[in-house]
Amino acid sequence: MKDPIPALEELWALRPPQQPVYDQPQERDQVVAQLRRLPQLVFAGECDDLRGRLAEAAAGRAFILQGGDCAETFEAVTAGSIQRRLRVLLSMAVALTYAAEVPVVKIGRIAGQFAKPRSKATERRGGVELPVYRGDAVNGFDFSPAARRPDPQRLLQAYYASAATLNLVRAFVKGGFADLQAMHSWNADFVRQTHVSARYEQLTGEIDRALAFMRTIGVDGGDAFRTVDFYASHEALLLDYEHSLTRVDSRTGQPYSVGGHLLWIGERTRRVDGAHAELLRRLRNPVGVKIGPAARPDEIVALAERIDPGREPGRLTIITRLGAGRVRQLLPPLVEAVEATGREVCWVCDPMHGNTFETAGGYKTRSFADVTAELDGFFDVHAALGTWPGGVHIELTGDDVTECVGGAADICEADLVNRYETVCDPRLNRRQSLELAFMVADRLSHLDHPGRRRPPLADL
Ligand code: PEP
Ligand code: CO
Repeated sequence: MKDPIPALEELWALRPPQQPVYDQPQERDQVVAQLRRLPQLVFAGECDDLRGRLAEAAAGRAFILQGGDCAETFEAVTAGSIQRRLRVLLSMAVALTYAAEVPVVKIGRIAGQFAKPRSKATERRGGVELPVYRGDAVNGFDFSPAARRPDPQRLLQAYYASAATLNLVRAFVKGGFADLQAMHSWNADFVRQTHVSARYEQLTGEIDRALAFMRTIGVDGGDAFRTVDFYASHEALLLDYEHSLTRVDSRTGQPYSVGGHLLWIGERTRRVDGAHAELLRRLRNPVGVKIGPAARPDEIVALAERIDPGREPGRLTIITRLGAGRVRQLLPPLVEAVEATGREVCWVCDPMHGNTFETAGGYKTRSFADVTAELDGFFDVHAALGTWPGGVHIELTGDDVTECVGGAADICEADLVNRYETVCDPRLNRRQSLELAFMVADRLSHLDHPGRRRPPLADL
């Protein structure tokens, strides 16, 4: 059978943006060859399972929670950091499931999110100009010529860091950590006194009572209460890495990325005829596409046709990041144009990337109020159009950082200096993430017909 994945050289011929330039091309070739021999991080069957769950979300019968770091770092590949990220995502997922009464598809920005697209190629500090930091998979964060030199060995490090991360994630979600009865302990160290912790306690109390009742009447929920399915996703940015982690599935003969369950194409690399779309359209994994305010509806329809010509439910997830001020104006024409093609896509809101600003003190931040305002706009637009608001995509961390302003603890601009730890975009901290989950849960629980699309006008 002809190899359906284009050769890496064919992708380079399309002049992909956002790729590092290595000064040792032979070393890069050796690394790519090594990556091609290494075992898969995820299995094709798992990617198929995720596609099936996303099809449920596209049909309005499930909700997607996708979240994690803007940029993972090698330094944060520790048990504690991974556990804290998982803990906040699982807590959010329970809050959403309980309120929305629909299954929540849990997807981390994790185990592969080591490369970043950047708006400028260089960074200037004082009189010195160096290549910009492009994520640990490319170069180092320190502002020195040695750290900023793109190093192909980092691609291998990204692979091993992803493998170690995913190994622990799998152990946590299947090995007891995700047990609903342990939910109290996930956030037992929470500082009291805010409505977020009070609401979390109320939620765990209600779930405890429900579990106790079921035990009393002899119902054993089995694995459903003790383990969860959790998927890994990242932006497919570095073509050397992504191409070398494609494999043909021995069961079906179909090509998959084995570097993550879901891959997405970023706003800066989503050209219809670009190399990123060319690679991802050939793979059987579910694919996400990020859409910013400059996107034209016809462009997005063309991209949808290219990636999902078979109109397969669950294949395509469109992640909009339009900004709080513009979502109400820009989202309706995009949704209408794609829905008019008859395909069922998942509509996911990323309320982070359209709402970034810089403070007077020079910190890149986001305000919690803008984040929730974009989410409100997203829910209102889908309610007005009769389409299902399929999920949220959040940059967050399990640590109590101070990177985004606002929220129940009312972090202000002067607080940002305390724990500003991100190497790229500002993330919601644990409390802000839970607060956001409760806000989304409230919106979901007030939907007229949760879990069902309104029939098209013509069918009424
Ligand atoms: C991101 O998700 O970190 C990112 C860079 O997003 P976008 O492509 O939407 O700008
Ligand atoms: Co980001």
